[in-house]
Amino acid sequence: MKNKDTADSFCLYYTFNYAKGVLLLFIYRIALRDIERKVREMAKKIASEKLDEEDGSIVIDADEEQATIDDLPGVGPATAEKLREAGFEELLAIAVMSPNELAEQAELGEAVSSKIIQGAKKMANIGGFVSGNKLLERRKEVQKLTSGSAALDELLGGGFETQAIVEVYGEFGSGKTQIGHQLAVNTILPSEQGGFDGEIFYIDTEDTFRPERIAQMAEAVGLDPSVVLDRIHVARAYNSAHQMLLVDEIKKLSKNIDVKLIIVDSLTSHFRAEYVGRGMLATRQQKLNRHLKELKQLSDVHNALVLVTNQVMSKPDAMWGDPTKAIGGHIVGHASTFRLYLRKSKGGRRIARLVDSPNLPEGEAVFTVTAEGLRD
Ligand code: GTP
Ligand code: MG
Repeated sequence: MKNKDTADSFCLYYTFNYAKGVLLLFIYRIALRDIERKVREMAKKIASEKLDEEDGSIVIDADEEQATIDDLPGVGPATAEKLREAGFEELLAIAVMSPNELAEQAELGEAVSSKIIQGAKKMANIGGFVSGNKLLERRKEVQKLTSGSAALDELLGGGFETQAIVEVYGEFGSGKTQIGHQLAVNTILPSEQGGFDGEIFYIDTEDTFRPERIAQMAEAVGLDPSVVLDRIHVARAYNSAHQMLLVDEIKKLSKNIDVKLIIVDSLTSHFRAEYVGRGMLATRQQKLNRHLKELKQLSDVHNALVLVTNQVMSKPDAMWGDPTKAIGGHIVGHASTFRLYLRKSKGGRRIARLVDSPNLPEGEAVFTVTAEGLRD
């Protein structure tokens, strides 16, 4: 009897301990799950904070964020993809299309295209009207930069204007890059000497920026080369997408840098090399258009000058007029405020022709490129 009691209490003891073990294990598992959940939440929070940070560095004007083609009614991911493939990245580009053009270019049905265009018209930022007086106020802020050649300055009504895009086009060796270098140096001059006392962003697509040449031109106008080079911010663009990203970078950097001149030398070389053939023409023009629009925006916001260079395409079959034509066609032409056509002349002289200007007569100026830079 006593033996049975002992066995019973033994059994009870083990059962109790076993149950305690199971309970502890259970509590332990629950605690572990809780810790795991907390760790996961923390990791997620850190990741989202990082994402926010990254987003913050990409989105430059968060408050200016606009609707995109993905927000159009009736446009799902597949249609958005088709639109993008056809080069329609922007609502405004869609808003100005006709249904059959859009249907053809983006390979969509005409009814769908028509609906998309309607939506884009409602959502696109078409822009507004301002009074003529307001515009006159803004025009009063326009400053003019000397080129170093009195004849060239006179052709441009006193120099290269801010709030404008100036396109300089011409064949190789006609002096486009030299003008870019000279304007970069002159931008640093004080206003009494025809400068802007500002800084420069230089997007170099052909690897033709030469600091030595800048130093030479700086000394010739009595500036310290190292001060000048310090205020010229140069980036080499490796392809057209990179070139466009660099404009975003300028947007960010110009919050702390007093930008007065932006140079893109050359504007078109990457676009021309990457978008080859008739089929790519629409996409190329749309991208160039967007690129120029962003540059124009910068010139307006900072009261700065934008200088873009463009090569000419040989058109030997032309019977009348000049046998050359600027790359980028009418898009670049219309987006630029002034267009200067350069050609080489006898004795190392250059002839600049003002081709397109909103308020100046067409005309020509002769200048030379000397060791000191641009001169009459
Ligand atoms: P591409 O970029 O090839 O289309 O030509 P571009 O229009 O940019 O020509 P660029 O401005 O590079 O002009 C080159 C010409 O400028 C040369 O052929 C020289 O005549 C002149 N040049 C360049 N550097 C000097 C220099 O240090 N001294 C002098 N005297 N002339 C220079
Ligand atoms: Mg050049």
